[in-house]
Amino acid sequence: MRYYYGVQLKNRKGDNMGILDSAFFRGFIKLTEDGTRMGWHERNGGNLSYRIAPEEIKEVGGELRSGGEWKPIGRVLPDLAGEFFLVTGTGKYFRNVTLDPEDNITIAELDSKGVHYRPRWGLSRGGAPTSEFSSHLACHAAKKRESGGRSRVVYHAHPGNIIAMTFVLPLSDRVFTRELWQIISECAIVFSKGVGVTEWMVPGSKEMADATARKIEQFDAVIWPHHGMFATGETFDESFGLMHTIEKAAEIWIKIKSTGMLVRQTITTDNLKALEQAFPIQLPEHFLSGE
Ligand code: 13P
Ligand code: ZN
Repeated sequence: MRYYYGVQLKNRKGDNMGILDSAFFRGFIKLTEDGTRMGWHERNGGNLSYRIAPEEIKEVGGELRSGGEWKPIGRVLPDLAGEFFLVTGTGKYFRNVTLDPEDNITIAELDSKGVHYRPRWGLSRGGAPTSEFSSHLACHAAKKRESGGRSRVVYHAHPGNIIAMTFVLPLSDRVFTRELWQIISECAIVFSKGVGVTEWMVPGSKEMADATARKIEQFDAVIWPHHGMFATGETFDESFGLMHTIEKAAEIWIKIKSTGMLVRQTITTDNLKALEQAFPIQLPEHFLSGE
């Protein structure tokens, strides 16, 4: 018998293999645990989705339920037609995912036009994918196109320091990008495209999803004022690491401001240009011009 974090690994037929045993599932679980440990997931805050690779879905296909009712995803995403997603359920708590994955997450399949989805596994006591599913899918579609299919993870969290910054800075991509780049040398290397910032909008709304999708075409991370952040990546580590790096810089930024002391030195534009020379990165010119 195999266990993972105390959960007995069994599929529906009682074999010791299957979804709960798969590498993508374990990566998903680990991220929910890491995010919980960071304190970014109060109550049901935050959500996570993973675009499952065809070979991965083939491996676990025997465990999927036969098709249920198709439901609209609220947008047309032909780029994602026929794709499968592992995604957290709406109203579900990240901290409970490990304890009962089958109740808290689901595998959802998209139809051949990218217009409807249907659950094929999980949400064992009922429910639906996250209320931000539309935003997640819009991000997946944009990132799949941009990365040539390599980007697979979309992660939404509620990190406190980046949220705090949205109260005191103008909601501008340039301002947030520069403020964060100037905190830790690593920032310009980890998110060399910068970060996007939207206006405040109603969570779960079509407007929010549209705005996020537009920004994510340009950036790998998007900040939602007074709410949280979206971070994308090819792997769970990459998405989590991006969220972590931005939030760490935001934490230091808040600490600096909280001292009330004069800032005597920072990472300058020339320093940023020096990073560009030393690392395989290209910083957008419009984020470097002017002080
Ligand atoms: P869900 O519980 O629907 O995932 O919503 C949580 C959240 O963070 C909304 O933005
Ligand atoms: Zn949220």
